[in-house]
Amino acid sequence: MQGFAALSEFKAKAGQVLLVPGEDGTLATVLFGLGAEPDATTFRVLPAKLPAGTYRIARAPEGIDRTRAALAFALGSYKFDRYKGRDADKPHLVAEGVDVAEIRQVAHACALARDMVNTPANDLGPLQIETIAREIAEQHGATCTVITGEGLLEANYPAVHAVGRAAVPERAPRMIEISWGPEDRPLVCVVGKGVVFDTGGLDIKPSAGMRLMKKDMGGAAHALALGRMIMAANLPVRLSVLVPVVENAISGDAMRPGDVLASRKGLTIEVGNTDAEGRLILADALARAAELEPALTIDLATLTGAARIALGPQLPPYYTEDDDLAAAIEKHARAEADPLWRMPLWKPYADAIDSDIADLKNDPDAWAQAGSMTAALFLQRFAPKSPWVHLDIFAWNPRARPGYAAGGEAQAIRGLYAMIRERFA
Ligand code: BES
Ligand code: MN
Ligand code: ZN
Repeated sequence: MQGFAALSEFKAKAGQVLLVPGEDGTLATVLFGLGAEPDATTFRVLPAKLPAGTYRIARAPEGIDRTRAALAFALGSYKFDRYKGRDADKPHLVAEGVDVAEIRQVAHACALARDMVNTPANDLGPLQIETIAREIAEQHGATCTVITGEGLLEANYPAVHAVGRAAVPERAPRMIEISWGPEDRPLVCVVGKGVVFDTGGLDIKPSAGMRLMKKDMGGAAHALALGRMIMAANLPVRLSVLVPVVENAISGDAMRPGDVLASRKGLTIEVGNTDAEGRLILADALARAAELEPALTIDLATLTGAARIALGPQLPPYYTEDDDLAAAIEKHARAEADPLWRMPLWKPYADAIDSDIADLKNDPDAWAQAGSMTAALFLQRFAPKSPWVHLDIFAWNPRARPGYAAGGEAQAIRGLYAMIRERFA
């Protein structure tokens, strides 16, 4: 083996693979390099380098956590093949001495989020998100309530209605609420932006900006996936998943620039720009969360292009006033190799969303510049006063890199899940 490895210039560099044949010429052993500082995350790159088949880890360095390695392998196996026909079989890793069910459920939830983000808007409209939410709820003995169309006005979700009412009737806006867990447990609210397609509305996006807007329901996909993880693991919490779902469409009934909207909390919002629609629907959803008196609220949203300007596609910014919560998020994000970066809720920029005629407006003044932060400051006006964190996610890999398929990506939810698990243990 060593001779063959040397002959093949196998240096055990991180991600390096050597397929070693047995005497009959078929694959007998795989040497997988982990580099000088072995890290289980490297297993994400392995599946793409293996022929289909069944594998097990025969030997690994001391520091390699087999659970993390198996999860990384599963995450790295992801491919969106809905429209390509089924590919040839993938390699499978038979994990030994680890909690296979747990690894599976986490990988499955991440794949669900990625599938939802990758599925185009013609096949993933509001009804399809509702169906997925109902399925998840049913699988875990949760209740799922959905308020649709004109019902949103009666149930006091005026901003969700205003943003979504321009869509065709079959794609009417809706508010999805999953509730799970016994009354006496602390409540975790997970909120997600569900814009199935963002044309920008009457403030229509240019082509390049609209091209990827099938992913604008990424927050909803992440919220459902995180909720699913929590329920599948039966964490000792009560859970509410709150997902406002709309198509930001253009029609004679579309909200207009300059319109003033009512909101669930009672604050009036001047629509300076119909393309800042995410914060409008989240305003109502966060107000709903606040009514439920949660112990912790997390919202996830593909909210601003500015977040990408600040930190690029791999590093979603998060915002919270709670330093302990931030420290816990940081710690688990690192441990799960699920990176994110804290940004401040900088009070001096708050008046950039003051409106001349309403309580606030959805298009911040240009002088404040920090678009992701001013969006977070907008949400803060509606969020619960108890610990709350907002994540401005991208949910997308703009290019493939080893272990990460191009397209939909699950960001931050593995870290958040681990954080919740510890916080409410
Ligand atoms: N969905 C977009 C934000 C977005 C754009 C996320 C590109 C990821 C990639 C959001 O609804 C939006 O259009 N935001 C505007 C806000 C502005 C009009 C105040 C933006 O970021 O330009
Ligand atoms: Mn928009
Ligand atoms: Zn949007």
